[in-house]
Amino acid sequence: MCGIVGYCGSRRVVPVILEGLRRLEYRGYDSAGIVYLQDGKLIKHRSEGKLSRLEAIIGDAIIAPAHIGLGHTRWATHGAPTTANAHPHSDCSGNLVVIHNGIIENYHSLREELKDKGHIFTSQTDTEVLAHLIEEYLENDLVAAVKKAIARVEGSYALGVLWAGMPDALVAVRNQSPLVLGVSEHEGTFLASDIPALLPYTKEVIFMDDMELAILKADGHQIFSLVTGLPVEKKVTTIDWNPAMAEKAGFKHFMLKEIFEEPQAITNTVSGRINPETGEVVLPEIGLTAADLADIDRIFLVACGTSWHAALVAKYWIEKYANIPVEVDIASEFRYRHLLINKRVLTISISQSGETADTLAGIRIAKEMGAKIITICNVVGSTMTREAHGTVYTHAGPEIGVASTKAFVSQLAALFLFTLYLAQKKQTISRELGLELGQELIGIAGVVERELPRLQKEIEHLIESYYDCRDFLFVGRSLNYPIALEGALKLKEISYIHAEGYASGELKHGPIALIDKDMPVLALVPQDEVYQKSISNVEEIKARQGRIILIGTEGDSHLRTITDDVIYLPKVHSAMNPILYTIPAQLLAYAIATKRGCDVDQPRNLAKSVTVE
Ligand code: F6R
Repeated sequence: MCGIVGYCGSRRVVPVILEGLRRLEYRGYDSAGIVYLQDGKLIKHRSEGKLSRLEAIIGDAIIAPAHIGLGHTRWATHGAPTTANAHPHSDCSGNLVVIHNGIIENYHSLREELKDKGHIFTSQTDTEVLAHLIEEYLENDLVAAVKKAIARVEGSYALGVLWAGMPDALVAVRNQSPLVLGVSEHEGTFLASDIPALLPYTKEVIFMDDMELAILKADGHQIFSLVTGLPVEKKVTTIDWNPAMAEKAGFKHFMLKEIFEEPQAITNTVSGRINPETGEVVLPEIGLTAADLADIDRIFLVACGTSWHAALVAKYWIEKYANIPVEVDIASEFRYRHLLINKRVLTISISQSGETADTLAGIRIAKEMGAKIITICNVVGSTMTREAHGTVYTHAGPEIGVASTKAFVSQLAALFLFTLYLAQKKQTISRELGLELGQELIGIAGVVERELPRLQKEIEHLIESYYDCRDFLFVGRSLNYPIALEGALKLKEISYIHAEGYASGELKHGPIALIDKDMPVLALVPQDEVYQKSISNVEEIKARQGRIILIGTEGDSHLRTITDDVIYLPKVHSAMNPILYTIPAQLLAYAIATKRGCDVDQPRNLAKSVTVE
């Protein structure tokens, strides 16, 4: 939700900011803007639409001899995606600018108060009040004015402020929206919402915490607590991602590249954590003592969107193998319901970004109620990983495509590892089964790698007769029911085709009324424990003239008697089917969306990291 970039240092600032924004555009692309200080004056360029439009406007200013500035790419919350609402926002004098990610909840009353004092507003955004509020308190000390303004503000914010009266420094503040500093002795100091913006310049980063204020200068930085007013010593973290990981590497879209990275993402998530000889799982960063493990009598899995689908799969795994009851919650519901949580309830957040506002709020509530918190997360140092008692990183590398793909399969791999870990610690599975399941998990990356090129070709061909449909149903049973939900989500978010996922057995309780020749149904029918039931459900669809795509087990010739459109996958242990069956679902969504000419990496109205409620 909005990307923030700031820089002061020896490089020319405009290219640094634009490159940073390009790497953060997945966070929002409704408008973009940049500001830099040149000859004592703030120069601002803004444009509605994507970054490419801003770049066209900037033209020759790319080589401006300026060394301090800020940039912003917006996901609109308050005010339409217009140029007037694009950040940076200025005060009345035009000498002070603010960029912001988050929501200022009391902006309306502040705006009225400031208008009464003569401030003139030029946008409909909540952000603009910040510029005017700081101006109101500004005498000759920017930091003091920012502190006074912050004391009046309610909501979430990651802020960058630049004032012509303090030409060598940026001021940044964080409260409930991510903000990270990049430090480099030779290049200067960087500010960003997320790590990919920093990767071309430095791997040394400092994660800001809530209610902290940073002063960034070319030759260093200082961070203060807004609660105590005192300087804070922060840890510098070295990131092991490289800039190329956030590039397309010859693929047409990030999404396709990231699907093809799935075998590696699974391997990176699994390797070193499981002994291939014994199947024993080690998760050193999990933060659970033997006493904690003995105490657990229930698990809550909390997540949003695709990560929630991973949680749904994990419920089946954990209950079956570790014998612990699991509740799965959508984080935005979890945080507002009457929770029955105590210290025996292990709460696990699942999040690619580690910054999703609802998920973060959910674990904070559970933590306050005494629960142990674990996060399954892809971003080292993200807020969730810092607030949880323990972490299981997914090691998928940076995910840039807005639709989550490799992060999802890595979440599944991490959750299966976690299931084995629990089952082994609680001795709910035999050594033999532990070894068998561990080897299946280790082996699944190779299966995915082998199948990917064939699947891509077959699916490109298959979608010719489906890409112009208006609706789609995805169905699956048991472990594959969440994959049906995920397939439907992928399709709707990138192709704008209306798609729903259902548990196959639920069809006859309502949705079957929708079935006709215009409503294709994709059914996941591996030869697993519920195969016969799944096939019966498919027959019910066929009997009503439904168009059917089946994804099933190699050699299952019966599937061809139901429909011509069958995608075969190799037989693997049924516990691994959710990982394997995700691949064709993702490729199908990708193929349909690209055939329809959709922007798969930046679908309309979406942003990757949802840091507002
Ligand atoms: C869909 C998608 C979203 C995210 C959701 C949670 O493709 O990417 O549904 O899964 O916004 O994000 P994280 O995992 O970062 O908490």
